[in-house]
Amino acid sequence: MKNISYGRQFIDDSDISAVVETLKSDYLTQGPEVDGFESDLCRYCGCKYAVAFSNGTAALHGAYFAAGIKNGDEFITTPITFAASANGGLYMGASPVFCDIDENSYNIDINNIFDVITNKTKVVTPVSYGGNPVWLEKVYKDLKDRGIVVIHDAAHALGAKKNGHGIVDFCDMAMVSFHPVKHITTGEGGAILTNNEYFYEKLKLFRNHGITKDPEKLEFGKDPWYYEMRELGYNYRITDIQCALGRSQLKKSDRFLKRRNEIADIYYNEFGNSEKFKVIRGYKDEDSINSFHLYPVLLSDGEQRKRFFEYMRNNNVWVQVHYIPLHLMPYYRSNFGFGEGDFPKAESFYSREVSIPMFPAISDLELEYVIELMKKF
Ligand SMILES: Cc1ncc(COP(=O)(O)O)c(C=O)c1O
Repeated sequence: MKNISYGRQFIDDSDISAVVETLKSDYLTQGPEVDGFESDLCRYCGCKYAVAFSNGTAALHGAYFAAGIKNGDEFITTPITFAASANGGLYMGASPVFCDIDENSYNIDINNIFDVITNKTKVVTPVSYGGNPVWLEKVYKDLKDRGIVVIHDAAHALGAKKNGHGIVDFCDMAMVSFHPVKHITTGEGGAILTNNEYFYEKLKLFRNHGITKDPEKLEFGKDPWYYEMRELGYNYRITDIQCALGRSQLKKSDRFLKRRNEIADIYYNEFGNSEKFKVIRGYKDEDSINSFHLYPVLLSDGEQRKRFFEYMRNNNVWVQVHYIPLHLMPYYRSNFGFGEGDFPKAESFYSREVSIPMFPAISDLELEYVIELMKKF
């Protein structure tokens, strides 16, 4: 039997045709598909600007750069996330500060953010874990009053909404990722979404070596071939081939989200009252959407979690654990002095969590198999 993974892409003939058309065109990179994908993302996410990058981590690096964070500054994030949420801040030489999670949403507990803010805090990076949108309305104005830039890591949350607000509301920049397990894919890819023109300009420079050809921004020359490198940027460009795939995928995004929510309902109906598994429910009002990148299941303790993980894997269900708390990574222990017990809620969550299959292309038979297996556990 083929393994059933916790997540996987959905590619159809229209995606393949879109890529093939681009391969036959004049531009493989820096062409019209990149601009087109960015416009489509703006329309879909309800924001003014989008800058697509070669991957989500590069996009986050750009956001930390645009925020102006540097050596000596601090940024705050959640311990329950992938390394990439913080790596951009580390690349800029800043120091990580963690704020423990809220046990209901599994996101950073925004009520406690102010306890860890210092006069060095430059950026706050909340993460919408698993697709459940982190609710920033309560704190955004206070953070702005303190001059703090909010970078929403919405890698898991394309299409998510809370009380009618999308992922770009109540933040300065939001990042989405197009890795194959995410909602839509470009193979590798990511984007920053923003309504702020200053950040937009910085991000565009950063993506392309800090180079501009815009006549209005040139300082030392005006010749038609002339360009200037004005910042230290990188080659973080995304290709037209990837963006053609992204545009084709984005057309299916609402369908994908609907299916993810159907799957969540099925799991919730099966295990909502279970004593073995703690499962979560999707929102039931029209103004809120959990985009369910992951479907996290909590076991009663670490021993049960290990048994369940091994049991599922031994039966061809490729479950995963999201995430080993970031502060417990050897890099964080040795460079920043973090250790066990620092963030008890995150550590307890980690010890009990397993992500079960959640992707639109899962068949009804596969879903039934996963559910029957869990019932037998
Ligand atoms: C929460 C989070 N942030 C950032 C990233 C980085 O995205 P990418 O893999 O596109 O670099 C990921 C990727 O898995 C992620 O899960």
